[in-house]
Amino acid sequence: MLSGTYGIALAALLLAADLPLAAAHATLAPRATVGGRERVSINAGWRFQRFTSNPDSLSYSTLKSWILPSGNDFIKSSGSKKTRPTGTQPGANLNFTQASFNDASWEAVNVPHDWAIKGPFNAPGISGGMGKLPSNGVGWYRRVVSFSAEDAGKTVFLDVDGAMSYAAVWLNGNLVGGWPFGYASFRLDLTPYVKTGADNILAIRLDNPLDNSRWYPGAGIYRNIWLVKSNPVHVAQYGTFVTTPTISSSSATVSLKVEIENKGTSSQVVDVVTEIRPQDESGVQGSVVATLSKASATVAADGKVVVSASATVANPKLWGPKPNQTPNLYVAITRLSVNGQVIDTYETPFGIRTITYDKDTGISVNGQKIRVQGTCNHHDLGSLGAAFNYRAQERQLQMLQEMGNNALRTAHNPPAPEFLELADKMGLLVLDEIFDCWKKSKTKNDFSLIFDDWHEPDLRLFIRRDRNHPSIIAWSFGNEIPEQGGASGGTIGAELRGIVRDEDPTRQTTAGMNSASPDQAMAAQLDIIGLNYNGEGIGVSTSSSWPGFRSKFPDKMLWSTETSSCLSSRGTFVFPVTSGMSALVSSNSGGGEDPIGMRVSAYDLYSDWWASGSPDKVFFLQDKHPYVAGEFAWTGWDYLGEPTPYNDKARSSYFGIIDLAGFKKDRFYLYQARWAPNVRMAHILPHWTWPDRVGQATPVHVYSSADEAELYVNGKSAGRLKRGTSSWRFRWDSVVYQPGDLKVITYKNGQEWATDTKRTVGNATKLVLSADRSNIKGDGLDLSFITATVVDANGDTVPRASNSITFSITGPGLISTTDNGDPADFTVFSSLTRKAFSGLALAIIRSNVGAVGNLTISAASSGLTGASVTVQAS
Ligand SMILES: *[C@@H]1O[C@H](CO)[C@@H](O)[C@H](O)[C@H]1NC(C)=O
Ligand SMILES: *[C@@H]1O[C@H](CO)[C@@H](O)[C@H](O)[C@H]1NC(C)=O
Ligand SMILES: *[C@@H]1O[C@H](CO)[C@@H](O)[C@H](O)[C@H]1NC(C)=O
Repeated sequence: MLSGTYGIALAALLLAADLPLAAAHATLAPRATVGGRERVSINAGWRFQRFTSNPDSLSYSTLKSWILPSGNDFIKSSGSKKTRPTGTQPGANLNFTQASFNDASWEAVNVPHDWAIKGPFNAPGISGGMGKLPSNGVGWYRRVVSFSAEDAGKTVFLDVDGAMSYAAVWLNGNLVGGWPFGYASFRLDLTPYVKTGADNILAIRLDNPLDNSRWYPGAGIYRNIWLVKSNPVHVAQYGTFVTTPTISSSSATVSLKVEIENKGTSSQVVDVVTEIRPQDESGVQGSVVATLSKASATVAADGKVVVSASATVANPKLWGPKPNQTPNLYVAITRLSVNGQVIDTYETPFGIRTITYDKDTGISVNGQKIRVQGTCNHHDLGSLGAAFNYRAQERQLQMLQEMGNNALRTAHNPPAPEFLELADKMGLLVLDEIFDCWKKSKTKNDFSLIFDDWHEPDLRLFIRRDRNHPSIIAWSFGNEIPEQGGASGGTIGAELRGIVRDEDPTRQTTAGMNSASPDQAMAAQLDIIGLNYNGEGIGVSTSSSWPGFRSKFPDKMLWSTETSSCLSSRGTFVFPVTSGMSALVSSNSGGGEDPIGMRVSAYDLYSDWWASGSPDKVFFLQDKHPYVAGEFAWTGWDYLGEPTPYNDKARSSYFGIIDLAGFKKDRFYLYQARWAPNVRMAHILPHWTWPDRVGQATPVHVYSSADEAELYVNGKSAGRLKRGTSSWRFRWDSVVYQPGDLKVITYKNGQEWATDTKRTVGNATKLVLSADRSNIKGDGLDLSFITATVVDANGDTVPRASNSITFSITGPGLISTTDNGDPADFTVFSSLTRKAFSGLALAIIRSNVGAVGNLTISAASSGLTGASVTVQAS
């Protein structure tokens, strides 16, 4: 479902995104018209050029006074709204904004597009923290859009779901406006500059300064982009707000506010009628279950009016998180009419549910306590970069959900709109976060430069965009904010909290505080106290900050907005292993590092000094403070940038529970043991192929929710252990390695629960390929994730194999990228040859647009028998 708040006939609209890469002079794709409004994808058919030095003498400072008015709809005080300058518009005569400019030599691209992801790595001026990929520079995008004669009199908006960053937009040489914050979903009104019955030239300039982020930001128009055509009188941008003030099992009150905007030249009397229907997970709507009382309003020319209405839904089907509840959704379909004629139709998907925040018991949804078993995640999609892809995002969330992860923190910025649609559908909870800094900077060119002008429009836009999603349980207006220790942490915090509560009085606010103390002024401004690491204590032995915060704020709910930051490289084990529950990563003996290979031991016991340590330590400390509502572990997936502890050397993170390619690290099973205890699972680590360790102590650990476990080494018991308090790890640290096999049998309440085995494997002999989905849509967007495994003659994975594998494909499709999850691999993601990392490599494939037929993906490697797998596109 790619509908956002505007649920319009989707199948038809998707066609627009599916156009093959055409010359820039493409006309608009098929349209869907529903009750007066059209929303047309203009993803296809762009021309793009990146410049590493400024090609046009423009900059944010020259464009600023023209761009600031674009935020006016999200500035409350009329005195603070900005006036568009008069006089010559910057860029009005620039070749790139002109129809006459010949862009044939520019790259043909479809968006979502991330210009940096193709590499190469080690881009000049880009740190490992930002992923070493060439995200900096000025990027220009150009496209022809054609408007028919029937478009005369319509209001035409450009909706950009995300463009990184400092977007400025020209239509036919007119500077329309722009939006600096690269994570914002913004709208510009093209109407005054549209030529109907003609080709129009749309030109977008983006500008990414160096040092603008602490992680990989991506670059370009990296989310979907739309044209919305409507009657001059229409529902305003993100102009609906659904609340469900009273809910019982027999009925629910649904209240709706609708903001009507009149861009026309005369006042209009508008009738507003809204019906409510259930909506299933594929977007299919059921029959009407309630109709809101009709409201009417007179909307002045160039004016806006908010109307309210409500209705009762009998026997409501509640939205609740999986696995114990069901994420039922409804849609409010609002029709505006003038003189009995429908002039606009607007759909607002929503859910009926209650959330309560309790100082002792934490979050409850629909009266049921839900312990927050969360992860934090950045926005990139691994080797696909920041370019949004629905299936890649869905795969990330599915794997997290399989682990028992029930909540997501959008670290540290607004996600793609479709991320929230997925969370709604899948029954995941979301802590929606907007800022990583306020006025004080973390990196030289971050949001602090524009905070004064843009914090209000960005924050109001963010809340208005997202507030109808039932998955969202709280708003975060800051992560590790540099102001947190001073007085301005209180004053700015109060202002931001005020804005959030003004836009959404139904949910609480929080922020992630590190270096936190209860006396800091910022803490008092949070409805929910959110601590990063401090709750469990940083390092190995620092004490918990929870008791201090609890006594200072006895009525507030508390949660850990960021925990652990455990480091590991999938499948890499370093000896000796610390005997502690958690240890600082270091190249010293027992510190878990292989500094030459830039790898951290996957015993899942190591973290940096500022972190709260192993998952085990976090679980123990969380359980010691049961009033804490839960945790968001850093991070669910590995991400581009921030390669602690190899800060400026590697290119992606070590924090993930799942690696960048989407392969599960051992740690996945540690979280699954705690978070999904009903899954019958036992997981042994490490692998058991250590020709270099014969006769040496080689600790064997098992993750399981069982309460007892017995390990057998070459058939002999190494002892039956009971699981410790708040521990999901069984340890046999003095096992001496001999080739052979390991077997664990686990028990719950004396009954056998789950088993696992590992055995010594032989030399690599062949490759095995498997596809995560063997049927994909032939739409050019859907993906299949193909895993290549290096195996021995028995078909067992060779755990340290690093064979170079070359992928190829036949049939109507292509290989998008390859990866292996190794943060220190600098082979570009577009390479068809990829070394296996710990026995595995990945190829991501997609079909051509409109493809029907079989795609055969093959993998070859010198000295190994190759393999192939077939994926059907339809
Ligand atoms: C476009 O204009 C810029 C700035 O004036 C100039 O440097 C550049 O050479 C022009 N490019 C083309 C292809 O005309
Ligand atoms: C595995 O490969 C090594 C090195 O090529 C060789 O010495 C050894 O005999 C092989 N082992 C087996 C079981 O084939
Ligand atoms: C694709 O492969 C499947 C099974 O391998 C086969 O049944 C089917 O006929 C093939 N389809 C086409 C269009 O070749």
